[in-house]
Amino acid sequence: MAALTGTFIESFKKRHSVVLGITRSGKTVFTAKVLQGVQEIGAHTIFVDPKHDQAFAHLGTICHTPIEVYNQLLLKNPAIVFRTPGTSDERVAALDRMVELLFSLQRSSGFKRIRRVIAIDEVQLFVKKGNSRAIEMIYTIGAGIGIVGMALTQRIQLLNETAWSQSDNKVIFRIEDRSEYLRSRNLDHYVDQLDFFTDPMNKYYFYYTQGGSRWRTHEPVSLLDRSKNLNLSRY
Ligand SMILES: Nc1ncnc2c1ncn2[C@@H]1O[C@H](COP(=O)(O)OP(=O)(O)O)[C@@H](O)[C@H]1O
Ligand SMILES: [Mg+2]
Repeated sequence: MAALTGTFIESFKKRHSVVLGITRSGKTVFTAKVLQGVQEIGAHTIFVDPKHDQAFAHLGTICHTPIEVYNQLLLKNPAIVFRTPGTSDERVAALDRMVELLFSLQRSSGFKRIRRVIAIDEVQLFVKKGNSRAIEMIYTIGAGIGIVGMALTQRIQLLNETAWSQSDNKVIFRIEDRSEYLRSRNLDHYVDQLDFFTDPMNKYYFYYTQGGSRWRTHEPVSLLDRSKNLNLSRY
């Protein structure tokens, strides 16, 4: 078990990320740790939670509509959880709308200096016909105005090309993309370690890069050193 270092966390505040792994491989637990870490160094966060997971309610003030999120943004609430609606069309529209509101606010005076990390759990649920307006916006123009994304999904193949190519931080738990596919993404080195990552002994280990071609294996994040939650009683 290991804690995430300051420089590791810092990189998620500044640069786009993708977090990949099969169900129950540890993606959301990891992301929750990163979000708490960046909150502690002054970033504001939004956790988009299509699954309405009670285990991640501690990541912020819970909102159910784009307007509720907007109202919290106006109050400069640093930690927001957006539980999106249940049906596919509504869910996609709600994220698109929320991101539009977020971007327009971020460009206005008084908000420009805020550094914001928006993590989207199960991004495949927001992709329609291979595309998501919200994800494209975040990953193409977000960084220029202080907004970076963290996109979570089960397979690299499910991920928008833009999210993958624009992300310096790439975190891979156990995945089940086909070896040929992984090799086509220049992940031969991950394929070579598949035995390690599929061994139940190594559950929750992850493989990552923070830019460039250097990849490393990281021990599971520790669940015990749970950082203190922000006091959100004002919101
Ligand atoms: N680093 C870890 N150490 C111990 N248990 C973990 C760790 N990461 C995840 N788990 C356990 O595995 C379960 C699934 O993790 P989760 O992050 O929800 O997976 P995913 O989001 O990939 O489906 C969690 O409920 C938690 O109990
Ligand atoms: Mg999850």
